[in-house]
Amino acid sequence: MNQDLFTRYALGPYTLKNRIVMAPLTRSRSQQPGNIPWRLNAFYYAQRASAGLIISEATQVSQQGQGYAFTPGIHSREQIEGWRLVTEAVHDAGGLFFMQLWHVGRISHPRLQPNEGLPVAPSAIAPSGQAFVTNAHGEPELLPFVTPRALETPEIEGIIQQFVQGAKNALSAGVDGIEIHAANGYLLDQFLNSSTNHRVDAYGGSVENRARLILEVVDALTGVCGANRVGIRLSPLGTFNDMGDENPEALFDYLTKRLNEKDLAYIHVVDPTLGGHVTAEEKSPAGERIMQQIRENLQGTLIVCGGYGLERAQNALKERQADLVAFGRDFISNPDLPERLQQGAPLNPSDPSTYYGGGYEGYVDYPSLKEARGEEGAPDYSIFGGK
Ligand SMILES: Cc1cc2nc3c(=O)[nH]c(=O)nc-3n(C[C@H](O)[C@H](O)[C@H](O)COP(=O)(O)O)c2cc1C
Repeated sequence: MNQDLFTRYALGPYTLKNRIVMAPLTRSRSQQPGNIPWRLNAFYYAQRASAGLIISEATQVSQQGQGYAFTPGIHSREQIEGWRLVTEAVHDAGGLFFMQLWHVGRISHPRLQPNEGLPVAPSAIAPSGQAFVTNAHGEPELLPFVTPRALETPEIEGIIQQFVQGAKNALSAGVDGIEIHAANGYLLDQFLNSSTNHRVDAYGGSVENRARLILEVVDALTGVCGANRVGIRLSPLGTFNDMGDENPEALFDYLTKRLNEKDLAYIHVVDPTLGGHVTAEEKSPAGERIMQQIRENLQGTLIVCGGYGLERAQNALKERQADLVAFGRDFISNPDLPERLQQGAPLNPSDPSTYYGGGYEGYVDYPSLKEARGEEGAPDYSIFGGK
């Protein structure tokens, strides 16, 4: 069978037109007040509908689950209606759209929490670093993280229910599936890792206990969407958001073996072979070992992401190290990334100064190949107001 980026792929009930996935990318451009997706976001995602699969930016399932100013939610009626604009625009453009469901846990701040309460976490351990919030005038501000409140055991069912409601809301907004965000140091990853989980109940201690919440969320959401429309993202060896685990090989061996039994649409792994974080350059032997172990544990679809260009992505498919490859930063700056990769055309570089927040600049105005070659005019972005 031809294992090429530009060939179709059967994923759950869907046929992807290529094996190129748009990675989840927080862009912090929802409409205020209310963290509501709007037509600017719909335009952005529709521009990228040539991906085989789009995974949305991380989307908080509750106000408690929000950790950054301006990120969109999926817990109010207005947000559901806003997301419907997005899913309709993507479907009209021939795309497929999964929503990444998110609870940030301790990576938040009382400013973002209901009644200015403490963020919740498996254990009362503060992350190092700063939270991105807004001041009384709605302007962005950075404040040191606080020590979160450890969730009581009976509260954990409520966390699962937040994900359940998020998935139901996402379906009513017209998504094709959902991705559980269990990566990058947010709540589910905080339960998983030994550095952030010091619990002594059934959700802490052993590998089995630390993986329990994730597996319960998976079971609850497969009940809502059907397993073949549920994916999950993991970040083994990740250190982003002040994370760490005492024995990641044992942890991810156990977790991926259990996940393999669930027949999910896919497992999406932030590839640690380049050292975990997006800017790292060095290869990590531990990362390579863990990726190989995960591949061996999984019969179903594996998506990899992190530092993949055309050649590395094609090799990963050819060597059967992965079934699909997700691209992050290259999709920020290249709305027509699949076409560019297929033609071997140059890629626009992405500008980190416009990753988070702001208006259309650095969001929908990266030129397509046709615009760059003068074969097509650029749209009039002033319809989105201001900058
Ligand atoms: C601006 C930006 C926002 C991101 N937002 C998310 C997110 O919302 N959810 C997530 O799981 N990963 C997020 N990531 C990580 C990316 O999905 C991806 O793993 C990372 O960029 C590495 O892939 P790349 O080398 O192709 O860019 C983000 C990365 C960037 C650069």
